[in-house]
Amino acid sequence: MDLSERRRCPAGQVVKSCIEGKTNKDWIKESGERKSDAANDDKKICRNAQTSLYRSIKRRWRVEKQTENKKKTIKRINIEKGKISKESQAEKKTSKDERIKRRRFEEGDIEKESQAEKKTIKDERIKRRRFEEGEIEKESQAEKKTSEGESIKGRAVKEGQLQKESQAKKKTSKLERSKTSQVDVDDKKIREENSKGRNIKQNEDNNKRSRSEDPLEEGGSIQKRPCLDIERPATLDSDNYKFHTVLGQGGFGWVILASFRPKKQLVAIKILKKQKNNCDSIAKEARLLKISRECAFLCHSYATFQSELEAFFVLEYASGKSLWQMILRDGNLPMSRIIFYTAEMVVALQFLHSKGIIHRDLKPDNVLVDKDGHIKICDFGLAKENITGQKNNYGLAGTRGYRAPEVLLQDEYNAAVDWWSFGVIMYEMATGKLPYSTSGSILNQTYAIMTETPDYPSYMSEEMLDLLSKLLETDDTKRIGLNGNIREHPFYSTINWDDLENRRLETPFQPGMPSADDFYEFPLPFSTHNCNGKNLKDFSEVDPNWNWQE
Ligand code: ADE
Repeated sequence: MDLSERRRCPAGQVVKSCIEGKTNKDWIKESGERKSDAANDDKKICRNAQTSLYRSIKRRWRVEKQTENKKKTIKRINIEKGKISKESQAEKKTSKDERIKRRRFEEGDIEKESQAEKKTIKDERIKRRRFEEGEIEKESQAEKKTSEGESIKGRAVKEGQLQKESQAKKKTSKLERSKTSQVDVDDKKIREENSKGRNIKQNEDNNKRSRSEDPLEEGGSIQKRPCLDIERPATLDSDNYKFHTVLGQGGFGWVILASFRPKKQLVAIKILKKQKNNCDSIAKEARLLKISRECAFLCHSYATFQSELEAFFVLEYASGKSLWQMILRDGNLPMSRIIFYTAEMVVALQFLHSKGIIHRDLKPDNVLVDKDGHIKICDFGLAKENITGQKNNYGLAGTRGYRAPEVLLQDEYNAAVDWWSFGVIMYEMATGKLPYSTSGSILNQTYAIMTETPDYPSYMSEEMLDLLSKLLETDDTKRIGLNGNIREHPFYSTINWDDLENRRLETPFQPGMPSADDFYEFPLPFSTHNCNGKNLKDFSEVDPNWNWQE
């Protein structure tokens, strides 16, 4: 079975070539090629992802255009209904101030009139806003089938404009109130730290945002777009990130290559749409990303924050390719590389399992290589926490081809399922193929696994063959990983585990880190879907070890 057959259209791509042995200089030299070289391996893959990005940008543009049109229509209706007086139309060219002055002069009762004038303006604005909201509501219902999310976005834009107008008048006291009443202790700390360390002039404007008085808000950490006049920590403000290109997209949301503006530091931002039923899963992922900071071979988060509709995970950017991209490009990988990468995976898996966590979706796509050439296991979306070692029925999780037989059979299972997937990945790295066919029903796949032995090519070393047969063991109680000490297997006889764990071993190749300047900026493809997401409590957080101010 050919890899290209098996694979779905790849979700992840990197807009650059990540070629073995390239130094940072090479990266910079090749940056031009990254932007323009049609022969680039990744370009096709990239095009798919970019197309959806462009589509999203187009949709945004359309929404703005619609918003603009709506505004015009509302204005016209207002005129027709006589809400805007004939006089004001006649006086259109005369400035408001002049009119007020003249009237004041004529009536001679400046104080009274200015109060009345203020009231009228305010009433007019409230009326207009209610009217607009009503209109939008009606329209959004009419458009429900096609662009429910777009209407809401348009409304948010309009509300933002109205808010801007009214906020310009009553700015300071409200700001103070909301600051003291809603800032939770954690965010307060972060803000204090940030205000001490903030030194980036260019971002001052971006960091000024208001916080709504919605009591549902997680104190200070939610971004209620668009709001304009309170300081938010630089790291927790999506305006402080430039968005470059899509690295991955799926049911979960997006992973986007971005850079943190103050440092021009490349990061990968995972954006999940908040929905009614995924809040627990988002919170779990945030927890696991935090735990993963303790292991060098797990992808960790620098920060997490949220807007009304989305949860953002600012992740370290693994600039090397994923194992899946390497296998796709090279077919199979050299033995030294398989030993090194899988050894680092052993450390990562043993760490996760020691914390009672099963990954459940191990596959080459989720094993990335960082700028120094070390692996980073990512994507804890399907992970399960608090596993005691006892088997339980956790459902049919994972990806076709990588699921252990006990998962396929929907039996009770434990962390041994990760060791099965680990075996499949090792086999794939060695042969460029999966050990078992993924065609047919789940029953067929299970039957093949239970009755057939994978094809072990003759070039495979004895040590590898032995280890693979122990990993691809259908009886999970006998499978190596939880069972026996995999570190002592002859396949890893060359590995000094202490050096490996401390990243002291030389990596097979060092991809380096491209410069943020090598990438164009794109508008953020925000979700345009209406979702009934809840605010996530105590979600916003910054890795204390992230030197974002340097
Ligand atoms: N794709 C998904 N997560 C990624 C990350 N952290 N770095 C690079 N590519 C990714």
